[in-house]
Amino acid sequence: MSVLELKSVSVIYPPATKTGEDVHALENITLNITGNDFVVALGASGCGKTTLLNVMAGFIQPSGGEVLLDSKPIKGPGADRGVVFQQHALLPWLNVIDNTSFGLMLQKMKTDERTKVASKYLKLVGLEEFQKHYPYQLSGGMRQRVGLARALTSDPAILLMDEPLGALDALTREIMQELVLDIWRETGKMVFFITHSVDEAIFMATRLIVMSPRPGRIIKSYNLDFYQRFFKTRDARRVKSQQEFIDVRQEVLNIIHGDEIRIDQG
Ligand SMILES: Nc1ncnc2c1ncn2[C@@H]1O[C@H](COP(=O)(O)OP(=O)(O)O)[C@@H](O)[C@H]1O
Ligand SMILES: [Mg+2]
Repeated sequence: MSVLELKSVSVIYPPATKTGEDVHALENITLNITGNDFVVALGASGCGKTTLLNVMAGFIQPSGGEVLLDSKPIKGPGADRGVVFQQHALLPWLNVIDNTSFGLMLQKMKTDERTKVASKYLKLVGLEEFQKHYPYQLSGGMRQRVGLARALTSDPAILLMDEPLGALDALTREIMQELVLDIWRETGKMVFFITHSVDEAIFMATRLIVMSPRPGRIIKSYNLDFYQRFFKTRDARRVKSQQEFIDVRQEVLNIIHGDEIRIDQG
């Protein structure tokens, strides 16, 4: 069983201008992700969510503290962490199967072998019929499915998802929430998922962390089981309209507004 550990992580960006000040993007973040954790980070634009994900992905090094995957320091990007971006980040000149298997190609896997792996994950995300399509021929939801399949091809220990559903229309978003939960259950991956939607966060998380801005800190953490109720009933709307769900949402909103955090795109 894999463990991703953040120990007292801080990130300070240098000032953008000569006269500017340092940006304390993250301060003293301690977080353990393991087993079947689906950890959701919720917070206002600019509170450091993407910075946190970038530290886990190895895109940036923390200014202080430690980031470990299975007790080894994260020194850079690696196949053991699959990243899904808010913007799909597909290559427009490659079709779906080649986009999906792109990482495997870079790893010099043989064509028929990587096609086999990519097909398996495209099937999992419901796109087996679309292997020869190009990104411009796909809807926003389908592009994000390709991004998800691509992130899974290296069989990572953890999926890191930065507002992957943020650009989708409301109906597609609901369908994609269910798809992501189903894939999480089926693959048994750990997930770190960023959103600015309070409902999405509460619905999907096994653990929800609420962040405060400047410096970005974890101000509250919840263990939740609404996803389980969805697995039992397959009725997401009903789960989201349960009194308990509404109560948690109210509490989270109170925390957020109490700290004068504005939730928006970010
Ligand atoms: N490369 C960078 N250089 C300087 N400041 C940055 C950089 N990236 C992000 N920041 C700043 O750090 C803070 C956190 O940003 P970010 O992690 O993108 O937040 P979020 O994803 O929650 O919107 C913001 O104030 C942002 O302006
Ligand atoms: Mg962000």
